[in-house]
Amino acid sequence: MTNKATILIIDDEEGIRDSCSQVLNQEGYLVNIADNGKTGWEHFKKSPTDVVLLDLKLPGLNGMEVLEKIKKMSPDSPVIIITGFATIESAVNTMKRGAFDYLAKPFSSQELRVIVKKALDSRKTQETSLTPGLKTARDDNFTMVKGKSKSMAKVLDIVKRVSPTESTVLITGESGTGKELLAAEIHNHSPRKNAPFVVVDCGALVETLFESELFGHVKGSFTGASMTKHGRFEVADGGTIFLDEISNISLNIQAKLLRAIQEREVTRIGSTKPITVDIRILAATHENLADCVRKGKFREDLFYRLSVVPIHIPPLRERKEDIPLLLNHFLLKHSKKSGMKLKIPSPKATKALLEHEWPGNIRELENTVERAMVLCQKDRIELEDLFYHGISLRPSFLQPAEEGYKSLKEIEKEYIKIVLQSQYGNRTKTAKILSIDRKTLLSKIKKYNLS
Ligand SMILES: Nc1ncnc2c1ncn2[C@@H]1O[C@H](COP(=O)(O)OP(=O)(O)OP(=O)(O)O)[C@@H](O)[C@H]1O
Ligand SMILES: [Mg+2]
Repeated sequence: MTNKATILIIDDEEGIRDSCSQVLNQEGYLVNIADNGKTGWEHFKKSPTDVVLLDLKLPGLNGMEVLEKIKKMSPDSPVIIITGFATIESAVNTMKRGAFDYLAKPFSSQELRVIVKKALDSRKTQETSLTPGLKTARDDNFTMVKGKSKSMAKVLDIVKRVSPTESTVLITGESGTGKELLAAEIHNHSPRKNAPFVVVDCGALVETLFESELFGHVKGSFTGASMTKHGRFEVADGGTIFLDEISNISLNIQAKLLRAIQEREVTRIGSTKPITVDIRILAATHENLADCVRKGKFREDLFYRLSVVPIHIPPLRERKEDIPLLLNHFLLKHSKKSGMKLKIPSPKATKALLEHEWPGNIRELENTVERAMVLCQKDRIELEDLFYHGISLRPSFLQPAEEGYKSLKEIEKEYIKIVLQSQYGNRTKTAKILSIDRKTLLSKIKKYNLS
């Protein structure tokens, strides 16, 4: 870190101000405090901080007014709302008016640290996306790098046309191709851009928790439901909900989701009162959803509801002409993020980057660049900095070893290892890339002692 991040805490409760500044000071941030809305706003106006922690209930100028002023002057500054349980409803409202997130009292120091870090990271992404040297790579205020391929130009053309509408969009593409980023682009180019963009990872939770995550629950509706919870649909009200990895949801939840989409209303678990929500729906999957329908794993009616406008992001290996601009983008992004001098890859390293098949797509390219910048001891990124795990330097493992040619078995073992590492040990993804089923992969991992 070159510069210390600055944080402004606006809260009339001395206890909160003190405990938050203590935690944030320990994290190495520069903390300023204000005990009322007016002083807080004046402080921000004079010297805008990287993040603002803002209490909603304040004497004089209230939190909502302060939020509006901050957002008007500096729309990209993340503001985190601090709120008591009684006012969670209004905290959700503040997110519609541009608040970054909220912390409900009482919160732990860990929660505080995580949320502030997230807010700071969001700023960094915004900042790098404004790097002037990269203007050529993007147009129309897209955060995504467009590259030179015709296929991505087509994709972004559809994005431009579909964003201002209310249409439901189904984004497909291999892992790491940029599905989530594309969904965010659609939201950010839509009339809903100032309202929340809520991401739901459909594979992350067990069924019962997932249902409550989506639709909420009322106090006492099941063991552990000690208070009423707003579902993600409610939080997204006025904005966009992004259902990521949609193929993972169970048939039972699919039925409930279909209803929510058709009626635009949700019912919290344990309640009978439906709540109307105004939302735009985007979904994504790396699977072939039509196939899932054929196999009976996914409802056909829900499939049609979701895929009103289908957008497919092609894998990076099919649009290698996009690599140079992406490479520039990530080199700049990560040198800025780490506060390190920009390092350029050597000609050999560049050639390898341009030729690599990128099974993990753009995420793999980005991770490779980030890791190389950290590992690289010299001014230039060399070949060995790029693929330090031995990731897919194709020739090196196919070339005859000193003791002669390798057997097919040895090559199979080596190759599985490489793909497995490129997928950070994810077996499902590895099996998919290798076009074998998971069971076969597991038995090979065992046979070759690879885990
Ligand atoms: N066109 C692009 N320009 C700049 N960065 C990109 C682009 N596409 C993807 N990325 C970056 O690559 C990474 C992976 O993108 P994202 O998470 O959107 O992919 P995904 O398809 O949702 O992957 P997964 O299926 O693994 O969830 C992110 O860090 C994202 O910012
Ligand atoms: Mg994703």
